[in-house]
Amino acid sequence: MPILTWKTNYSVGVKKIDDEHKTLIDMINKAYDSIEAMREDEVLVELVEEMRNYAMTHFATEEMYMKHHKYPHAETHRKQHNEFMIKVASTDNLLSSNNTDIDPIKVFKYLADWLRNHILKTDKKFGAFLIEKGQE
Ligand SMILES: [Fe+2]
Ligand SMILES: [Fe+2]
Repeated sequence: MPILTWKTNYSVGVKKIDDEHKTLIDMINKAYDSIEAMREDEVLVELVEEMRNYAMTHFATEEMYMKHHKYPHAETHRKQHNEFMIKVASTDNLLSSNNTDIDPIKVFKYLADWLRNHILKTDKKFGAFLIEKGQE
């Protein structure tokens, strides 16, 4: 079962950002599926790494728009992205080192909650600003 599902109310109004959110959500679900299916740890590590790279690409997209349109809340928004990257990086490290203290299900619940909250609050606020600036 997916841990997170994109819904129309997740739309920030800018297609490229919405598409990237959908991909990121797919990646979280794919990784989560592999935990539920108890696949080998290497599979999960690989999926987390892919997700980590994609999150970086996605945050770069948003930060490019912030810069381009001189978004006044860029600093606080960027800080949230950095927090997510730190969490994903530490997850990646713990999984790669086969640390048994880590509960991947809990970690993924955290990541999915973070993403949902971030999209619904921070990204939607940013999206409204971009629409006002005429960004499609
Ligand atoms: Fe985003
Ligand atoms: Fe964001």
